[in-house]
Amino acid sequence: MRHVVVLSLLCLVRGEVLEADQDTIVPEDWRLVGRVGPLQEVELTFALKQQNVNMIEELLNHLSDPDSQQYGKYLSLEEVASLVRPSKETLKVVQQWLLRHGVHKCHTVVTQDFLQCVMTVQVAEALLPGAKFQRYSKGSQTLLRSATLYSVHEDVFQHLDFVGGVHRFPPKDKNISKGWEGARRAALGYHLGVTPAVIRSRYNLTAKDVGTSGNNSQAVAQFLEQYYHPADLAEFMSLFGGGFTHRSAVERVVGTQGRGKAGIEASLDVEYIMSSGANISTWVFTNPGRHESQEPFLQWMVLLSNMSALPWVHTISYGDDEDSLSEAYMNRINTEFMKAGLRGISMLFASGDSGAGCRHLTKQSNTFRPSFPASSPYVTTVGGTSFKNPFKLSNEVTDYISGGGFSNIFPMPDYQADAVGGYLNNTQSLPPETYFNTSGRAYPDMAALSDNYWVVSNRVPIPWISGTSASTPVVGGILSLINDQRLLKGLPPLGFINPRLYKLKGKGLFDESE
Ligand SMILES: *[C@@H]1O[C@H](CO)[C@@H](O)[C@H](O)[C@H]1NC(C)=O
Ligand SMILES: *[C@@H]1O[C@H](CO)[C@@H](O)[C@H](O)[C@H]1NC(C)=O
Ligand SMILES: *[C@@H]1O[C@H](CO)[C@@H](O)[C@H](O)[C@H]1NC(C)=O
Ligand SMILES: *[C@@H]1O[C@H](CO)[C@@H](O)[C@H](O)[C@H]1NC(C)=O
Ligand SMILES: *[C@@H]1O[C@H](CO)[C@@H](O)[C@H](O)[C@H]1NC(C)=O
Ligand SMILES: *[C@@H]1O[C@H](CO)[C@@H](O)[C@H](O)[C@H]1NC(C)=O
Ligand SMILES: *[C@@H]1O[C@H](CO)[C@@H](O)[C@H](O)[C@H]1NC(C)=O
Repeated sequence: MRHVVVLSLLCLVRGEVLEADQDTIVPEDWRLVGRVGPLQEVELTFALKQQNVNMIEELLNHLSDPDSQQYGKYLSLEEVASLVRPSKETLKVVQQWLLRHGVHKCHTVVTQDFLQCVMTVQVAEALLPGAKFQRYSKGSQTLLRSATLYSVHEDVFQHLDFVGGVHRFPPKDKNISKGWEGARRAALGYHLGVTPAVIRSRYNLTAKDVGTSGNNSQAVAQFLEQYYHPADLAEFMSLFGGGFTHRSAVERVVGTQGRGKAGIEASLDVEYIMSSGANISTWVFTNPGRHESQEPFLQWMVLLSNMSALPWVHTISYGDDEDSLSEAYMNRINTEFMKAGLRGISMLFASGDSGAGCRHLTKQSNTFRPSFPASSPYVTTVGGTSFKNPFKLSNEVTDYISGGGFSNIFPMPDYQADAVGGYLNNTQSLPPETYFNTSGRAYPDMAALSDNYWVVSNRVPIPWISGTSASTPVVGGILSLINDQRLLKGLPPLGFINPRLYKLKGKGLFDESE
């Protein structure tokens, strides 16, 4: 079907389809409202082709390898810009194409590789033949998107990676409460609720293990119309913050905090990164919330390329099915992660809460379903565990919801080849080989407790919150404590930690086989 549409398009407009493999199916929880008027404005994000992409990958390997002379010699945003900035030709061709269509309300970033432009739907559809903007709604949220593929003029095709704000919908809201299951276990009396004290004790954090360097900071980023409330954080710390020095307020919110009820997920992230990464300055990146055509996750990536001073550690619970995204988009997002790594920033993503995932290929055949960015080789992916003995602080076992698997797109990076090879060779009773692709990037890289957390949301303490969105900020805070010690000694922060992490071969971490 898709090919027929594409071919007829090509004949009509002498354009070429970008992102031909992007899923354009409208998720079932979004309702079509109708066609958008021609004079309605959209804001599109043009991802311009960058230079030296292969070179920065190699550079990142050196900067992140503790055995390299270049370890930790991170770059400033301006230095990254001097490597990746699009060629003069790319900048000129794209600019002229936009101007020819009367598009001149554009903003660029320090690295000049993104251009965000406001234009009417009429102009956008002339610029991107094939696209048809419709309004969709879900609850009180509305979005403008196109359910048909877009093309660009053949002259600009080679100068663009993709155009953001056309196809991708936000991922489904996550279910971070095991609800019924949690309640059942609690009723049976075998429930050890996870609090900051439990985390700090299990991971050997003493009262001295708090941030002391004035120069350190950490961040959580949230994109799903979820907001934390400062009063919830303050109450959480007064209930659960005994025994360790901590902060009870966020240092900086970047973006617009929506009104209305707090999200449990948003509360969880902030409350736990500030409990393990205690006494460390914490930022929250939240929805910019300006245009209905924006993709909030992409918006955050664009913002990072426009801010020269950023926290060293970012934790994010966000993901889409890998098979729903175009390769052009994912490759470009990977380059954005590499740019962050070159700057010494650690990017931590939750591995997801649907186990290995399930994709129905035909009635009889299924495979596992990896999630992106969890499957990116350029981020650190965090999975979840629960206590083996739920009555006490015991060893941990895999939390059955914890996301994990192998990418079908990105080959296995060298840094994990030994560890994963050893795992595959030595693990009994793996699922059938047809379900997963052992040549791909394997995740998660680390895991921490993800089960039965206490959270304060809308001023109420809530038990039984579960998910890798709990373990990820916990790990993020612990990495920030390590960064703190390094900064005090004049050492560079950990940056992209995977190459170093796998060289530890489990030393310095709990490494349990179950
Ligand atoms: C990047 O920052 C500059 C300077 O603050 C600003 O003028 C520009 O609009 C920003 N770019 C985007 C895409 O927001
Ligand atoms: C969330 O998970 C619980 C327990 O598995 C289930 O009962 C509930 O229906 C789920 N809610 C949603 C919205 O999926
Ligand atoms: C908390 O952090 C500040 C710097 O942000 C530092 O001056 C102070 O000593 C720290 N507190 C403790 C108990 O280490
Ligand atoms: C903080 O870091 C900046 C640059 O990384 C450095 O110039 C400054 O001296 C540091 N400040 C402290 C208090 O360590
Ligand atoms: C398996 O993963 C590799 C990347 O490592 C990819 O090239 C290949 O297409 C994948 N195979 C399938 C069946 O998805
Ligand atoms: C796994 O087994 C294969 C085949 O026996 C062997 O070639 C490989 O070296 C093993 N890998 C590890 C990491 O043990
Ligand atoms: C944590 O402390 C316990 C008890 O002192 C010790 O047995 C364990 O090895 C420590 N774990 C790590 C990872 O340091």
